[in-house]
Amino acid sequence: MFRWVPSFLQRVFVSWESLERKAVVGRLRRAGHEIHPSVSFGRRVHIDVHEGGRIQIGAGVQILQDSWLIVECKDEMDIGENVFISQHCTVSGSVRIGKDTLIAGFVSIIDAHHTFKSTDIPIREQGGVKRPICIGKDVWIGTMSVVLAGVTIGDGAVIGANTTVTHDIPPRAIAVGCPARIVGWRGGT
Ligand SMILES: CC(C)(COP(=O)(O)OP(=O)(O)OC[C@H]1O[C@@H](n2cnc3c(N)ncnc32)[C@H](O)[C@@H]1OP(=O)(O)O)[C@@H](O)C(=O)NCCC(=O)NCCS
Repeated sequence: MFRWVPSFLQRVFVSWESLERKAVVGRLRRAGHEIHPSVSFGRRVHIDVHEGGRIQIGAGVQILQDSWLIVECKDEMDIGENVFISQHCTVSGSVRIGKDTLIAGFVSIIDAHHTFKSTDIPIREQGGVKRPICIGKDVWIGTMSVVLAGVTIGDGAVIGANTTVTHDIPPRAIAVGCPARIVGWRGGT
């Protein structure tokens, strides 16, 4: 059901959220993480860094509303300068993103998957495997795409909308589909 919120109340919510964001960033910095002062966070951006994990966010990074960054114990997340992460993205685990890379809305980049070999034990009790993800600089990842654990995407690559990246993509490749296949090259072959 649509609910009308008076504009003065909206302003209260917005300023409350920006205060909360400042508090979160302050806590991360005090814990030794590097969050550049110029980083901008949209509303409801969630940054969850577990003890023993490490996050670094470079100058000029923009993260739009409702995106989540999750860094578990022993994970290292490094988001390079001027990276743009649009709305509703999930970036989780040991993920490195090179400078100037663009990530469109609703993209999922998760460095883990479940182990499911045994049929006697529920999958949820079999643990999982984590493999770091490396995304180069000046990459564009289209909306709704999924980048799976262990993948490397080379510098300058383009990943089309709704693509599932299951294997490494070379630099400057244009890759689309599920699983991703190369359909061209930036700047020609
Ligand atoms: C990949 C993309 C950049 C186009 O690249 P391009 O080099 O111009 O590619 P083309 O349009 O010539 O398409 C090449 C082939 O790939 C196919 N293709 C293009 N995009 C595709 C996609 N996302 N998924 C599946 N196939 C795709 C085309 O149908 C074409 O196939 P065909 O030769 O069999 O007809 C674009 O299609 C795309 O997906 N952009 C992302 C848009 C987005 O996410 N915007 C969010 C805001 S940032």
